This record gives sequence, C-alpha cells and structure tokens, in this order.
Amino acid sequence: MSEGIPVCIAGTGSYLPEKVMTNADLEKIVDTSEEWIVTRTGIRERRIAAEDEFTSHMAAKAGAKALEQAGIEAADIQLIIVATITPDTLTPATACYVQQHLGAQGAVAFDISAACSGFLYAMKIAKRLISDGAFENALIIGAEKLSAFINWEDRSTCVLFGDGAGAAVLRKAEKPGDGEILATEMGTDGRQTRLLNIPGGGSACPITINNADQRLATLAMLGREVFKHAVTRMKQSAEKVIERAGLKAEDIALVVPHQANLRIIDAIAERLDVPYDRVFTNLQKYGNTSAAAVAIALDEANRSGAIKKGEHVVLVVFGAGLTWAAGAIRW
Ligand code: ACO
Repeated sequence: MSEGIPVCIAGTGSYLPEKVMTNADLEKIVDTSEEWIVTRTGIRERRIAAEDEFTSHMAAKAGAKALEQAGIEAADIQLIIVATITPDTLTPATACYVQQHLGAQGAVAFDISAACSGFLYAMKIAKRLISDGAFENALIIGAEKLSAFINWEDRSTCVLFGDGAGAAVLRKAEKPGDGEILATEMGTDGRQTRLLNIPGGGSACPITINNADQRLATLAMLGREVFKHAVTRMKQSAEKVIERAGLKAEDIALVVPHQANLRIIDAIAERLDVPYDRVFTNLQKYGNTSAAAVAIALDEANRSGAIKKGEHVVLVVFGAGLTWAAGAIRW
C-alpha cells in the first residue's frame, strides 16, 4: 500500500520524573535481588512519578520539549494523540488534559490503547492523517504512570516497570533528509490477551467493595510466554518495515527497540543480524515504561547524537494485546 505524501519527525522530547527507585530499594519491598533483576532484565533503576504527578503532566512536559525542538507553538498544533494504558481517568481521554496543560486549543485530541506498541500505532495514525491532508501537523506522545497500576507485593512484575513520557512532532516533509518516516507496519493477536493485562477496573471487572483487596487493577503477566512472542514478533515486524522501506539490515544505522528486557533486545539484534553497537538501550535507567519507552529512547538517541542526519533508523515495539509495530525513518 502507498505510504502517501512524505511525513517527517520535526522534533522529539521526553520527561522522566525526579524520583529514582533502585534495585536496592526494591530489595527492601519484595523478595528479590540486584543480581536477579540485572541478569534477567538488565534494569538497574527506574523513575517513579510523584503522587500528584499524573500521566497527563508527564505527557505535556515531553510534548512541550518536542514542540520546542520542532519550532511549533502549542497553539498551532492540530492533532494530539496520547498512547497510554495508564490514563489520568477512564474518560475523558488523557490527551484532553494534555491539550489543556499545553494550551493547544486548536488541536483535536484523543487517546489510543495499544500498550507498549502505542507510540508507533500513534505514529502510523498521525502519519496517515497528515499525508491524507486532514491535518498539517501532529503531536504524538507515549506516557505512562505504571507505578499506579503495579502490585508492589508481586516481585514478578514490580521490578520491571517505571514511569515517564516521550513525544514527537510530525509534519509534512518539505525536503529529503527532513527526518522522513519511510515506512510503518503494525499487527495484533487478540488470542493472547491473557498473557498480559490489567484485569480489573474495566467493565468486565469493576473494582467494588467486595474485590477491592484483590489488587485487580494492577498489571498481571505471564513473563516467559510474553518473552517468546516478543522476540518472534519484533524480529518479523522489523524485517517487514526494513523491506517496505526498500532497505537492507546493513543500511540501518540504529535500531531503537521497545525497552523491556536486555535479553529480548539481544535476541532480536542477533536474529536481525544487526551489531549490538547499532542498538539503542536505556532500560538500565528507566525500566519498561510501556508506550513511553520507545519514545523516550528515540528522544535520547536524537539529542545525544546517536542518530545523525541522513541515517536510517528502525523503531520496533511489542506489548499487551498482543500488539507489535515498527517504523523506518531516514533521519
Ligand atoms: N526476584 C527474584 N526472583 C524472581 C523474581 C524477582 N523479581 N521474579 C520472578 N522470580 C523467580 C520466579 O519465581 C522463578 O522462580 P522458580 O524457578 O523458583 O519458580 C524464577 O525467578 C524464574 O522466573 P521466570 O518468570 O521464569 O523468569 P524469566 O527468566 O522468564 O524472567 C521476565 C522473567 C524478566 C519477566 C521475563 O520473562 C521477561 O522479560 N518477559 C517479557 C516481558 C515483556 O517483554 N513485556 C513486554 C510487554 S510489557 C507491556 O506491554 C506493558
């Protein structure tokens, strides 16, 4: 299918809360160890949002930085999409609060829910809406306050996740080398919903006085099964997008994958035949921030100079649903 009028990434931004929670801090809460967490996941610390700091606050801060880098005023942004599984409220959408925080009154704003794949789902939607001429620009944001949806007594999940937000501004590409999004691809397998979910708090299982003590509004995961699907789907998705962009693995200067687990990232790099020094990681500092993770990583890669103008970058993600997605960009 044609990818339409060229659309580019004009700016990126990210925000991480101040509070750092180390593996040593977690050793005091659950029966775990620095050694287990580092060898199984690579994570050394994560950030935790303040009690009065919501997903929308982090999203707006990341969004403001992306707008600043793109040289676009909040008042001129036409579309805001927030990808999150930890919204401020079930309704209205977190994107509506973000619109208000930013003063972006001219924007249409809505959320999407695709877990860790959400930022690239948002990228594909925004790209299409811009290339179709419906909007001139868009602010896409991945933002999560996962700490509010973690069972802090479950060692199999609480060591993995963190809070944060990442953002990008998309607009029509004016000239080659503008940061053009060359190709995107995404997929879903709804047969696997049981592998990773937040079972309570929705219409299937409202939280009531009778179940409030069961912590059903927290993340539940069958980690080992998720791991296998993650490796297979991310490899396939990255390969598809590389082919769709007319590229080969050796053309890729940097792969920016979902930041869940260093062992998953190692396995994908090996299967894609991309040397490890061409794979960006920051999960050591932030853990898995779901929809925010790839967006934060992209911003850090951009601002640190890990991606240079004209180079090809592949983003690839995987999450609950199960969902997966990839994007190829000529930076
Ligand atoms: N500290 C110490 N021991 C632990 C901990 C912990 N924090 N957690 C589990 N263990 C124990 C288990 O009880 C088990 O003990 P047993 O052998 O005595 O039964 C042992 O460690 C091994 O447990 P596994 O779950 O098999 O460990 P595994 O090597 O699979 O690693 C992990 C677990 C890190 C969760 C891994 O499976 C993983 O990363 N899975 C993928 C997660 C992911 O990518 N999610 C992405 C999407 S997230 C989203 O969409 C929101």
